[in-house]
Amino acid sequence: EGDVYKYYSDGEWRKSSSGKSVAIINPTTRKTQYKVQACTQEEVNKVMDSAKSAQKSWAKTPLWKRAELLHKAAAILKEHKAPIAECLIKEIAKPAKDSVTEVVRSGDLVSYCAEEGVRILGEGKFLVSDSFPGNERTKYCLTSKIPLGVVLAIPPFNYPVNLAVSKIAPALIAGNSLVLKPPTQGAVSCLHMVHCFHLAGFPKGLISCVTGKGSEIGDFLTMHPGVNCISFTGGDTGIAISKKAGMIPLQMELGGKDACIVLEDADLDLVAANIIKGGFSYSGQRCTAIKVVLVMESVADALVEKVKAKVAKLRVGPPEDDSDITPVVTESSANYIEGLVLDAKEKGATFCQEYRREGNLIWPLLLDNVRPDMRIAWEEPFGPVLPVIRINSVEEGIHHCNASNFGLQGCVFTKDVNKAILISDAMETGTVQINSAPARGPDHFPFQGIKDSGIGSQGITNSINMMTKVKTTVINLP
Ligand code: G3H
Repeated sequence: EGDVYKYYSDGEWRKSSSGKSVAIINPTTRKTQYKVQACTQEEVNKVMDSAKSAQKSWAKTPLWKRAELLHKAAAILKEHKAPIAECLIKEIAKPAKDSVTEVVRSGDLVSYCAEEGVRILGEGKFLVSDSFPGNERTKYCLTSKIPLGVVLAIPPFNYPVNLAVSKIAPALIAGNSLVLKPPTQGAVSCLHMVHCFHLAGFPKGLISCVTGKGSEIGDFLTMHPGVNCISFTGGDTGIAISKKAGMIPLQMELGGKDACIVLEDADLDLVAANIIKGGFSYSGQRCTAIKVVLVMESVADALVEKVKAKVAKLRVGPPEDDSDITPVVTESSANYIEGLVLDAKEKGATFCQEYRREGNLIWPLLLDNVRPDMRIAWEEPFGPVLPVIRINSVEEGIHHCNASNFGLQGCVFTKDVNKAILISDAMETGTVQINSAPARGPDHFPFQGIKDSGIGSQGITNSINMMTKVKTTVINLP
């Protein structure tokens, strides 16, 4: 307590003139762990000004030099994996090993992005006019990709480092500058990650990180005329942002209700292992977590038994001990999850374990015989609680999946690949995984949601392309 982490603006660490701070509550101890500056709108304006001017010269910096700096930042980030992981443990209660993995994966992402960037931005197109009716070969068209300007990155609490760099690296390699608004839980991890970019020696003002209350600077940032692109990952706020933002490209990854459809011929051990990984890793706080199991009635008893046996082995406790199930991020999140559980209880779901909660820590819970009238059949708990709905036909499963307002990912388990592909085609989601749990990575794969799950597509290549626009020069021959 006492110390307030500084924010990062124009290449320097600064205190806010507001004199105010935002407390970050450790989800495990439920006590204040860190404090960050509560930046003002005036400070946001300054950040925008320096981002704008830094971008102009950055865009002229040779691509290979931009890549070189990103490789340097990636290496520094990996060197700092231990202290950053420590912040993740304290701020978002991510299990110790997963916290380290998040930082290493982030370093890899930054390097990959630098490599991909030099390849795809190193190429343009050349067109001739006489392919279009009525034209002679009198016009040559040269195309290249140019940066958008200032990119605003807003990552969520569950991957504050990884989902920040997945926006920062493509933005920078493409010649944009970057303003980062970290989530409250995860802000210090973000500041530490930004410090690695600072150490790598990026020009002043090219990257900045403003912390503060969403109510004070949230709308101000997203509606700021200086912003040329927003890349956001999070919840419903994204929908609000998309309505308020100006005429700029938006990349949004919002919630999900990823379904796991299990057919009669599925390898049930494989399914059970994937349900544990997909449903309970980081206590279900992943947008790509399995959030509903839709299993054929004839194999449901057997599957539920297998999953139950594995749930019993999950270690529940603090993230420092690398427990499998750790406290969820906030008390209000725990209360929300509890609301879904109580609703399911009232409406007659079968509890495979006893419901247990201490503070923000919720024990893993499998709910069998969930029916469509229960809230948990549709809502996203973002916690270690997984509903099972028994189905009598594949069509019923697909119907449930498609009736959701979300459409991020889904998965189907069967040995019949032809059937799996037809089911994948029928599922209205951005991605369908065959015989594995949903996941965003590897990070160069396209990643997108439809309906309320988002707009645009991520993944390294798509993000680089999205953060550029096409510029053409036409040579008119005499
Ligand atoms: O929470 C949303 C993330 O994009 C999911 O990423 O599949 O690597 O856990 P993940």
